Amino acid sequence: MEKEIYILGIESSCDETAAAVVKNGREVCSNVIASQIDIHTLYGGVVPEIASRNHIEKVNQVINQALADAGKTLEEIDAIAVTYGPGLVGALLVGVAAAKAIAYAAGKPLVGVHHIEGHICANYIEHNELKPPFLCTVVSGGHTHLVKVTDYGKYEILGRTRDDAAGEAFDKVARAIGLGYPGGPKIDRVAKEGNPDAIAFPRAHIEDAPYDFSFSGLKSAVLNYMNQCKMRGEEVVIEDVAASFQKAVVDVLVERTVLAAKNLGIHQVALAGGVASNSALRAGMAAACEENGLNLCYPSPIYCTDNGVMIGVAGYYEYLAGTRHGLDLNAVPNLKLGER
Ligand code: KG4
Ligand code: ZN
Repeated sequence: MEKEIYILGIESSCDETAAAVVKNGREVCSNVIASQIDIHTLYGGVVPEIASRNHIEKVNQVINQALADAGKTLEEIDAIAVTYGPGLVGALLVGVAAAKAIAYAAGKPLVGVHHIEGHICANYIEHNELKPPFLCTVVSGGHTHLVKVTDYGKYEILGRTRDDAAGEAFDKVARAIGLGYPGGPKIDRVAKEGNPDAIAFPRAHIEDAPYDFSFSGLKSAVLNYMNQCKMRGEEVVIEDVAASFQKAVVDVLVERTVLAAKNLGIHQVALAGGVASNSALRAGMAAACEENGLNLCYPSPIYCTDNGVMIGVAGYYEYLAGTRHGLDLNAVPNLKLGER
């Protein structure tokens, strides 16, 4: 029998302090997430300083809990994987410092992981048959990328957003229409009661870049619509605004994903990142994939938003590929996918 490999994954790039133990890159032994949503809701968004301070308070507790839930001691862990970018620098630093301290004290290898690689790898958790190559539509609060996963740890970025990320657009629009933070899940919920065809919001196309996205015009269109209604004294049906905005986002994500899959002759499509838990995106992508003979997978909502498991999974494949970082590993807030 092959040796079992256990990875401790640590994530602190934004507003979740998370740690997990993952066996052989596919099996979840534990998954601990301390969310700061309640704290940041008071301010209408993530406050970086507050995020860092809370990570410091929670990080050791979360890591200890992840080990305890998995029934593992540090001695039994093969490597420590940690998100070192992209993200909020102060937030990243907390996870990186904790991982380095543990790696040094326990004499274990340290493996730095790219946050987006983590999101993509979340698909491996519940889809045992999934392996590269496949196409992944990464939609999070900070990123919107169309990525060809050519092999484990090997990524080709086909397209990206030119301005706001999809999740950022959800969060900004939610604030503008009075739903508050965190915007994505709230719009998702409210949109279920609305008519997605009520308002014709724009779908941006970028010339000569068929796989790129742009969401800032859409966000402005929603703001303009709200202002116009106010000026005319017309009542705004928030449910319709939410549903129509959401449909505009989903339409471009689906269209560009299917176009890329067809052009590249890829039959397996995956979704990743916080917005991948959006019910309209899942349904819209599923219908389009079915129509075009493509297979679709996406993680359960708990593995779509930030978590330690996805870092443990990505860390496993990086570990197998020989990736090792020294104790000089630093947080890299604008780390590019594929950089080491
Ligand atoms: O991946 P994630 O947890 O953090 C980043 O790496 O950014 O993504 C967070 C983003 C937020 O913008 C949040 O509003 C969005 O994911 N989100 C959603 C949903 N759940 C989370 N957006 C749309 N629909 C959802 N159900
Ligand atoms: Zn994320």
